[in-house]
Amino acid sequence: MPISKKRLEEIKAFKNTDFSDCPELTDEQLAQMIFKRQSVRAYSRTSVDFLDNDIDLAVSLGIQPLIKDIRVKVKVLRKAEVSNNRSDYCIAFYSEEKPYHLENIGFIGQQIELTLQSKGLGTCWWGMKKPKKNFKSADGLNSIITMTVGYPKTPETRKYPDGFKRKNSADILIKDSKPDNLIEAVRIAPSAINLQPWLIEKNDNSYNFYLKTPGNLLEKMINDMRHIDIGIAMAHLFVQAKADGINISFNFEGADITNGKFICSAVLG
Ligand SMILES: Cc1cc2nc3c(=O)[nH]c(=O)nc-3n(C[C@H](O)[C@H](O)[C@H](O)COP(=O)(O)O)c2cc1C
Repeated sequence: MPISKKRLEEIKAFKNTDFSDCPELTDEQLAQMIFKRQSVRAYSRTSVDFLDNDIDLAVSLGIQPLIKDIRVKVKVLRKAEVSNNRSDYCIAFYSEEKPYHLENIGFIGQQIELTLQSKGLGTCWWGMKKPKKNFKSADGLNSIITMTVGYPKTPETRKYPDGFKRKNSADILIKDSKPDNLIEAVRIAPSAINLQPWLIEKNDNSYNFYLKTPGNLLEKMINDMRHIDIGIAMAHLFVQAKADGINISFNFEGADITNGKFICSAVLG
């Protein structure tokens, strides 16, 4: 479908968007995006000046990592550097490979997604797409995953809750845990093939995250992406908690359950 004249004008107006104030977004504004965001797969192919600068997005957007001592680089690649036919820009995430580096990438990348979408850009995690040979590593770090980015072709918006195709909270909660607004932020997080591989246990002052045991060959094949998914879900809990004025720290010691691998506890206060 060709892009409409009205949309072209909107996109032209976007070109004056000031991305330098992204780190100044309030916690509430960022959390609101949890309920509006969506994966965008059709882009206008208009240049985004802010992405043309050679910047590390995690640094320039002031993103908080899950684990501080894992080296990470978040670079913007051009279409030809990824053989990407969807969008003119692609974000490439590079990381040191250490315990929880995949969760860390999900955690960082999802905060980047929410931040960019709050400014009118579209994004989509792209697990199947790898950078071309010369871009498979940066600063000695291997590429982990990519995410398309650009101005959406149509001004898509998503309505909460009906626009979200997700499991019910009862399907992700274990041991009599009851839903609340932090769990809701986790429930509607994006995941590879929308599998939502998380199980959550709510205790008095913490939330335990478990990665569901892979149930079939496909889930085994995409197990790395499922670890990224858990990091994404943790980012949603973290962003919502901040908006609610709650401090969160993450603790990685805990026991597996019969149908899930323990990943971490998000401890309140
Ligand atoms: C780790 C990860 C990898 C993904 N890989 C792809 C992909 O390769 N191609 C694609 O079109 N969408 C991909 N997606 C997007 C998901 O399909 C999408 O998030 C999910 O269906 C939920 O839809 P929503 O993001 O619009 O809420 C990926 C998402 C995640 C989190």
